[in-house]
Amino acid sequence: MADKTYENVVIEREGEVTFLYLNRPEKRNAMSPGLHYDMQDALLNLEYDAQTKVLVLGGKGEAWCAGQDIKTYFREQGNDPVARRKTNNTSHNWRHELLTHFSKPTIAMVQGYCFGGAFTQLSSCDFAIAADEAIFGLSEVNWGILPGGIVSWNLTDMLLPRHAMYYAATGEPFTGKRAVEIGLVNESVPRAELKAKTMELAGKLLKLNPSVVRYTKEAIRAVRHMGHEEARDYLAVKQDAMHKADKEIGEKVGMKECLDAKSYRPGLGPYKRPT
Ligand code: ACO
Repeated sequence: MADKTYENVVIEREGEVTFLYLNRPEKRNAMSPGLHYDMQDALLNLEYDAQTKVLVLGGKGEAWCAGQDIKTYFREQGNDPVARRKTNNTSHNWRHELLTHFSKPTIAMVQGYCFGGAFTQLSSCDFAIAADEAIFGLSEVNWGILPGGIVSWNLTDMLLPRHAMYYAATGEPFTGKRAVEIGLVNESVPRAELKAKTMELAGKLLKLNPSVVRYTKEAIRAVRHMGHEEARDYLAVKQDAMHKADKEIGEKVGMKECLDAKSYRPGLGPYKRPT
């Protein structure tokens, strides 16, 4: 069945990898209210889409995302608290709730500008690969607001405190290469190689047991904010839940293939998944 079409976002597919692009290139993919509603709808649909095994979040044109739309999100809704609240909730819902809880691995593929509010969806993706040439910036300070929504939280969650403070308080832009150095993205490559590098990572993820990847990413996110005793308890219960959900019975297959068939070395790569 053909994918649903939207005014502000577009879906493209390469096999089991689904690309979801912000698509307002003439406005540098600034997030208007319409874009927020489109993204929420698209993510809800893709969450339950069986063909989507890895989700890539991209941006069409020169920008990945130039942050919230200063005109339509801030100014035009400034005197309409109900509309503002609705858009704000939708904006938070897709950028944080839907993305961080997305049941399939998510990769931010950042080819160009990434500013302000865009740091939330960047941080919510499980992985991020950037073009060396991409430009990141906490530009809020440049025009008179602080990194709101949950951007300040995203920054201190992702970066060492010195980096979070420096880039938030100065608004100084930085490149994809610098984003790797400060831990904001996994890797940066020349822009011409960005899609191939993203597909390479997607290919690695597709070779793995999807239930185990899902429970692992949920665990990594959850324990970050726990004490070790709580984490130990949580991980024991999570492990049990994963065994129940895992249709491939990965642990049994993995153990048998490793100990009996000696068909692979777990230290060097995954067992071959049954077709
Ligand atoms: N909100 C509203 N409109 C925007 C935004 C934005 N965040 N970013 C770009 N646009 C619009 C411009 O107003 C312009 O519209 P127009 O053609 O109708 O005049 C169009 O997109 C193209 O923008 P230019 O500035 O001409 O493009 P350029 O490539 O020269 O610069 C850049 C791109 C660097 C991204 C620049 O547009 C910019 O600084 N944008 C603001 C980025 C920002 O501060 N984002 C944070 C917003 S606050 C927040 O997210 C909480």
